[in-house]
Amino acid sequence: MKLLILNGPNLNLLGTREPEKYGNTSFEDHFSKLQFKFRNIELSYEQTNIEGELISLIQEARKVFDGIILNAAAYTHTSVGIGDAVAAIDIPVVEVHISNTFSREDFRHKSFISPNAKGVIVGFGLQSYDLAIESFIKNE
Ligand code: DQA
Repeated sequence: MKLLILNGPNLNLLGTREPEKYGNTSFEDHFSKLQFKFRNIELSYEQTNIEGELISLIQEARKVFDGIILNAAAYTHTSVGIGDAVAAIDIPVVEVHISNTFSREDFRHKSFISPNAKGVIVGFGLQSYDLAIESFIKNE
């Protein structure tokens, strides 16, 4: 099984960005742990700060991967285009967030991804990604 982890804006700063909300670990470090923990799964990882690049990566992923684990970060709450891209593809997308967006500002309660996601995992720190991968294994 091939899964793409796709991270949106500012998630390249994980480890140093607001550590009280997002922890002290860089995503690169966590990704290495994921690759070891889920060594039977072919995991890929991309990050971009650019909305249109996220849309292109979602479109291209549909030809290559069995599913996407998507943390669109701030674009989750603003991007009709990313929501439409998720609706347009027929591989499953699991939406993840590191922080519990529902315990934060009201504008973080809205997601343009969720209506077309297979499921949503919110608030477990970087473990949200582990749980998202496990959701694919159970459905194999
Ligand atoms: C986030 C939550 C978003 O509201 C925020 O803009 C992020 C990260 C999370 O993983 O907790 O950048 O997606």
